[in-house]
Amino acid sequence: MTQKVAVLGTGKIGEALLSGMIRAGWAPEDLLVTARRPERAEELRARHGVTPVGNTEAAKTADTLILTVKPQDMGALLDELAPHIPADRLVISGAAGIPTAFLEERLAKGTPVVRVMTNTPALVDEAMSVISPGTHATQQHLATAEDIFGAVGKTLRVPEGQQDACTALSGSGPAYFFYLVEAMTDAGILLGLPRDKAHDLIVQSAIGAAVMLRDSGEHPVKLRENVTSPAGTTINAIRELENHGVRAALIAALEAARDRSRELASGTKD
Ligand SMILES: NC(=O)c1ccc[n+]([C@@H]2O[C@H](COP(=O)([O-])OP(=O)(O)OC[C@H]3O[C@@H](n4cnc5c(N)ncnc54)[C@H](OP(=O)(O)O)[C@@H]3O)[C@@H](O)[C@H]2O)c1
Repeated sequence: MTQKVAVLGTGKIGEALLSGMIRAGWAPEDLLVTARRPERAEELRARHGVTPVGNTEAAKTADTLILTVKPQDMGALLDELAPHIPADRLVISGAAGIPTAFLEERLAKGTPVVRVMTNTPALVDEAMSVISPGTHATQQHLATAEDIFGAVGKTLRVPEGQQDACTALSGSGPAYFFYLVEAMTDAGILLGLPRDKAHDLIVQSAIGAAVMLRDSGEHPVKLRENVTSPAGTTINAIRELENHGVRAALIAALEAARDRSRELASGTKD
């Protein structure tokens, strides 16, 4: 029997996931979507050939439900869904900072829940999605979540206790790189280059460095040493980065993101 998957609250992340799943071979007719606004539902049908349904119908029909509403909308959505989801259905939460216990308390006893923290490169099939089981999720449920989120990038299983740290690293991670590119582009302008040229130089350098980090199998220290010649230009730049405490700033920044993620998660506990 075909497995039906429903994406509930299909916004930016939900649509990225949906389109990735279709590209990876899911049949659009096995995919259900829900949206708050009728025009959004129709847009999804027109773009992807999926079937828009109400939240209640999705809860009754789908074998796997993926909830991609904003964290603040999760409570209301669960209240609406809970009476209709049979306890043997897998519920995957894609909302940042919502603990599995928050869902388990609101769903029928024994409902398997999996928590996934993805990131915005899901929009270009280069996501990093971190997957944690709730109390009743089995290896099979985790494999299903990996299958779904694997359609838009890489997946990694971690214990739920590490989710806040992962949010700091990969959830917010792309923003740090955007910030670096912005700052380095400004530096290019200071050095007399036009903004568009500076942008292209930095973006292509970022892509090249990312592919080398992923594909070369070399440690980042080795890759950096390879371009740091004695008394050369790079070591002069590195000295300034060290003088300005950039390494320490990054460590403190990620710690602050982890702490904020913890704080937000604790705010969702009853
Ligand atoms: N974007 C990111 O960077 C990112 C990265 C990782 C994880 N996430 C997580 O992914 C989730 C979705 O984020 P997003 O950026 O995709 O948000 P989004 O674009 O606002 O998508 C959420 C969608 O859910 C709809 N919705 C809300 N309540 C609903 C309900 N009761 N029934 C049906 N639809 C409902 C909203 O409708 P309206 O359009 O009418 O508001 C919206 O279209 C969040 O929980 C976030 O924590 C996001």
